[in-house]
Amino acid sequence: MSVLVTGGAGYIGSHTAVQLLGCGEDIIILDNFSNSSPEMLDGIRQISNKTFKFYEGDMRDGALLDRVFSENDIEAVIHFAGLKAVGESIQKPLEYYDNNINGTLCILETMKKHNCKIMIFSSSATVYGNDNPIPFTEDMKTSAINPYGWTKVFIEHILEGVCEADKDFSAVLLRYFNPIGAHKSGIIGEKPNGIPNNIMPYIMKVASGEYDHLNVFGNDYDTVDGTGVRDYIHVVDLADGHLAALAYARKHKGAETVNLGTGKGTSVLELVAAYEKASGKKVPYVFAPRRQGDIAACYADVSKAKKLLGWQAKYDIDDMCADNARWALKE
Ligand code: NAD
Ligand code: UD1
Repeated sequence: MSVLVTGGAGYIGSHTAVQLLGCGEDIIILDNFSNSSPEMLDGIRQISNKTFKFYEGDMRDGALLDRVFSENDIEAVIHFAGLKAVGESIQKPLEYYDNNINGTLCILETMKKHNCKIMIFSSSATVYGNDNPIPFTEDMKTSAINPYGWTKVFIEHILEGVCEADKDFSAVLLRYFNPIGAHKSGIIGEKPNGIPNNIMPYIMKVASGEYDHLNVFGNDYDTVDGTGVRDYIHVVDLADGHLAALAYARKHKGAETVNLGTGKGTSVLELVAAYEKASGKKVPYVFAPRRQGDIAACYADVSKAKKLLGWQAKYDIDDMCADNARWALKE
């Protein structure tokens, strides 16, 4: 039996593919390379020294999905494929709703047809919205402030509905906090197209000299040093969280929502200092106004992940920065 990894050529999917192959899982990757490239697949092969089947195409292509499920015995889907840029989602809401929600519906329809009953889904801490108290626990109300966030809220509801209707279905909704870092081999990592929105790829470009400084969005928050605080998690820890979720889903039915974070907050200035220490490069910054839609601080209550999945993050912020620098600053 195989595990289908949608979006497996992307940042989190590729690291998860490596961990799955390392555990002896048989995987199949589906990706349309809308935000990735075949190089990532080479990287997965190189690190794992294993082979896997790959289908290039769009998850909304019903005929392709039918072929993927007909040609393989797929036990579970780990569903990463989706568009993820918050700002772009405000500019192109229909594209985001169509790709993320319609894409997920297409996969679920095909899973139903082929009697596949396990889905591990990439949700986000963004579903906690702007007015829950920290740390965030899975039972808090969800909402969103942009189309990207709404796609995550809606898909969570869709999966809960699927589990309600089919008592044999198992879905684990993983709410990621802020994934950063790269594989320790330095072979795969995050490679954003264009100007990065998220902080870590931006810091990378400043450290490498491509940009001359980082804009720190806000220094008057009620936090340790006035800058925004987030729960950064090493992408390999996050990947391992998927293996734990898969193991759980193989033994339990129904829908479960689980935070994947470290439970620790790090400010922008603390992250910059850790990156400078790990990379030996300067990261000049200037204070800029707060970014619209940002919250002061966000970190996870991670007790459910530990209790339900037996998983907890192993790496700290220094590991994340060191692994990132090894990948990003390699010659
Ligand atoms: P990514 O863009 O690197 O990977 C997503 C992959 O999906 C890409 O390889 C892309 O080509 C593919 N894809 C997109 N639409 C597709 C389609 N219609 N058909 C086939 N393939 C398609 O993103 P990532 O950072 O690896 O994120 C993976 C998932 O995790 C996404 O759903 C994202 O929303 C979610 N997530 C990411 C973060 C983060 O900070 N990176 C945080 C929370 C949640
Ligand atoms: C952002 C998205 C969120 C999404 C998440 C992962 C917004 C408002 N939120 O979260 O919906 O789930 O990415 O994709 O876009 N920062 C700077 N300078 C920069 C970039 C960021 O100071 O150039 C600060 C931010 O203000 C924040 C922290 O760094 O305090 C982290 O920012 P970012 O990496 O964009 O993640 P989130 O804001 O947590």
